[in-house]
Amino acid sequence: MEDVFWWHSIDLGDRVTEGHKSPELLEHEWANTHVRDLAGKSVLDIGCWDGWFSYRAEREGAARVVALDHYVWSLDLPRQQAYWRDCRDRGITPEPYHDQSELWHPDTLPGKAGFDIAHKELQSRVEPIVTDFMTTDLDALGTFDVVFYFGVLYHVEEPLTALRRVRRVSKGLTVIETEALVVEDRTRPLFELVPGAEVNADVGNWWIPTESGLHALCKAAGFREVETVAGAPPGLERYRLVVHARV
Ligand SMILES: C[S@@+](CC[C@H](N)C(=O)[O-])C[C@H]1O[C@@H](n2cnc3c(N)ncnc32)[C@H](O)[C@@H]1O
Repeated sequence: MEDVFWWHSIDLGDRVTEGHKSPELLEHEWANTHVRDLAGKSVLDIGCWDGWFSYRAEREGAARVVALDHYVWSLDLPRQQAYWRDCRDRGITPEPYHDQSELWHPDTLPGKAGFDIAHKELQSRVEPIVTDFMTTDLDALGTFDVVFYFGVLYHVEEPLTALRRVRRVSKGLTVIETEALVVEDRTRPLFELVPGAEVNADVGNWWIPTESGLHALCKAAGFREVETVAGAPPGLERYRLVVHARV
């Protein structure tokens, strides 16, 4: 366990993993998704990392859960985190992690260790898929009753292409959770470009939507209905937005 960097605090029965996200934060995030009634449903968790939301969906009675990721699974996370902390402390933007051969190992997937440990100890039936959602064969992936797209949108360079692809694998509800921005005129469908380390001192963040921006993007991507289920708390310029989009 020593060499595993955990993003999620996962209750494995005899212990809870020490994740970057605390158990309380994860419960709060889960409540904010307003996902109900997963019994018997098929669920796709895009960008699952250690799988907390996939395992939660399984616990909630989902009939089938597919957990998809590739990016952090390909990283040597303890080294990448040390590099990120060092850049943050020196006030510089990290070089893209996948351009660094000592960090990037898509052949051996060291960053999947946490997901795999939890999978084994929970005796889970969640199905992991190692693939880049932006290039993977969507016909082979199929369609799902519920799609989770949590914390991924602002990481993609082409958000409209991304949501069109999310739309293609959805046959019911898609839940999108993202960093979001408040601007004075809330009706304007804007996205802020963050090409450097503006968000969380991290590289690999690109576009931060306003609430109207995300609604407009979902519509442009072909979703029929979009509803905000967790909006901006008063007084904050940056927050986490959750919408339900339906086909
Ligand atoms: C901020 S983390 C969010 C993790 C988790 N969904 C959560 O909310 O705690 C972003 C995740 O998206 C994954 N990701 C980013 N781009 C991806 C892509 N194109 N295909 C698959 N996964 C991707 C990353 O590897 C990472 O696990």
